[in-house]
Amino acid sequence: MTSILILNGPNLNLLGTRQPEVYGPTTLADIEAMCREAADRLGIEVAFLQSNHEGALIDAIHAARGVHRGIVINAGALTHTSVALMDALASVELPVAEVHLSNIHRREEFRHRSYISLVAIGMIAGFGPKGYVLALEALSERLA
Ligand code: DQA
Repeated sequence: MTSILILNGPNLNLLGTRQPEVYGPTTLADIEAMCREAADRLGIEVAFLQSNHEGALIDAIHAARGVHRGIVINAGALTHTSVALMDALASVELPVAEVHLSNIHRREEFRHRSYISLVAIGMIAGFGPKGYVLALEALSERLA
């Protein structure tokens, strides 16, 4: 069965209480449940991971090769800073869908640059938790 890795970066463990005016009331556990429901509907498997540590995310990307067929990633603030994360994604040559809960282009200028976008098929931003489901749908369609 097709398996997709869903990766979440720094501070996303605080969703639900973190700046709800920006990120909404939904917790990361709620988002995981939504992803698992979508995966059942799409007939795919998902692995769901969050880390506040860049190296742990890079290790998970390296380990995805040969195990998962694609990656959905919300890299949090690392989106705007991490060449290392971008290089890891490029290295494993798996299709990548980038997700952001908020519309990063409506926010501060430093959020407008995404290193992840340089290696992603596409990006979904601004649709809140639904973005993860849209990304799963788009990636699984690509892989079918
Ligand atoms: C985010 C946007 C980033 O700019 C921010 O640093 C986050 C969350 C989002 O999902 O909207 O941590 O990736």
